[in-house]
Amino acid sequence: MLHGKRILLIVGGGIAAYKSLELIRLVQKAGGTVTPVLTRAGAEFVTPLSVSALAGAKVYTDLFDLTDEAEMGHIQLSRAADLLVVAPATADLMAKMAGGRADDLASTLLLATDKRVLVAPAMNVRMWTHPATQRNLAVLRDDGVLTVGPNEGDMACGEYGPGRMAEPAEIVAAIAAALGGGPLAGKHVIVTSGPTHEPIDPVRYIANRSSGAQGTAIAAALRDLGARVTFVTGPAVMPAPSGVTVVAVQTAHDMATAVAVALPADAAVMAAAVADWRVANATGQKMKKDGSGKAPVLEFAENPDILVTVSKGPGRPRLVVGFAAETDDVVAHATAKRLRKGCDWIVANDVSADTGIMGGTENAVTLISDAGSEVWPRMSKTEVARRLAARIAGALA
Ligand code: C5P
Repeated sequence: MLHGKRILLIVGGGIAAYKSLELIRLVQKAGGTVTPVLTRAGAEFVTPLSVSALAGAKVYTDLFDLTDEAEMGHIQLSRAADLLVVAPATADLMAKMAGGRADDLASTLLLATDKRVLVAPAMNVRMWTHPATQRNLAVLRDDGVLTVGPNEGDMACGEYGPGRMAEPAEIVAAIAAALGGGPLAGKHVIVTSGPTHEPIDPVRYIANRSSGAQGTAIAAALRDLGARVTFVTGPAVMPAPSGVTVVAVQTAHDMATAVAVALPADAAVMAAAVADWRVANATGQKMKKDGSGKAPVLEFAENPDILVTVSKGPGRPRLVVGFAAETDDVVAHATAKRLRKGCDWIVANDVSADTGIMGGTENAVTLISDAGSEVWPRMSKTEVARRLAARIAGALA
C-alpha cells in the first residue's frame, strides 16, 4: 500500500507518542520507510533510541545540530519525504504550525516543506474543544493540511471525549489516501447526510432529529480509503468532515438537485433523513395569527425520493446504498424497502427512542443485500462507517 513511500514522522510530546512506535511498524509493514523526528517534548515520552531502532534510521531531534546540518539540512530533510506526518500533534505544535513559527526542528521542517502534511491531533478534550485549538485547526485545514482523528473515548487524563489520537491503522489508511494509494483511490462516492428542512414560511420549518453523525462518519471513512467524496448535507448538527467536497442544502428538493449534479459516481450512500413531505402551501411571508382563533392548515406534497431516482435513473452508480430507519420489524421493512427502492444494499437500524441511536454516538445495524441480512453488533457510528467503507471498497474493487 505504501511501497517505496518515504514518510517523515514528527512525534510530538503527548502520552499518545507510544502509539507512534506502532505506527512506524505499520508503515514499514505496508512497504514505506520512516524518517523519525522527535520534538523536545516528544523525547519525554518515547526515547530517541527506541524510535530510531524501530525505524531502522537516524532520529532527528535538534535543528542546531551542526553535524546533521552538514549531512542533511532541514530544508532537504523536509523535502526528501513524500509526506510529512505529525503524530501525535499536540495543541502547541498545531498552534505553531497555524502561526507559521519555526523555532525548533519540527516546526521548521513543517514550514520549509513542499510536501503535504497530515496531522493526527491528540490532547485533552478541553484543549481540543478550546476555541483557540479549533481556530488553529481551521487555519491548518484552509492551508491544505490533512487531519486524521482525534477519536472520542476515554483519555489517559481520566476524562472522556474527543482528543484521543487516531489508531495507528487509521493513520496508515490516511497516509495511503493522502498519497493517492487507498483502495478507493480514483473512485467517486456521493454521500447524503443529515436532515432536511422543509419551510412552512420564511422563519418556520419541518425537520427531524437526524444529527448527521452516521453520514459524516461514512464520508470521513470513505475519504480515508482514498475516495473522492461529494458530501451532500442537510442542516446537520455535526460539522462536515475535512477533505471532502461539501454541498450544503436545506430542502429535499435542493438535495435531489445537488445529487443529480454530483453524478456520475462509482457509489452513492444515501444516509440522509430526507423529509418525505414538503409543505405545499408554504408562504413567502411569516404566517400570523389573525385573531379569529382559526389555526392554519398545512397542505403537503410528496418530495422526490432521491434514493429511488439514483437507483433507477440514468447513470446509476455501480453500488447504491440506502438506509432504513425503522421503529418496528426492522429487517422485514428494510428488506422490502431494498426491493422497492432498487438499491443494492440497505443499512437498517432501529431508531426507537429507547435505543438512543438517533442523535447518539452508537449504532446497531443490519446490512441487507441480495445475499440476505447480516446483523452487526452495536458499535460506534465511526466503527460502523469504517466497516461499511471497507465493504464498499471490496464491492468496487
Ligand atoms: O423511505 P425511507 O425514508 O424510510 O427511506 C430511507 C432511505 O431513502 C434513506 O437511504 C434515505 O436517504 C432515502 N430517501 C431519499 N429521498 C427521500 C426519502 C428517503 O433519498 N425523499
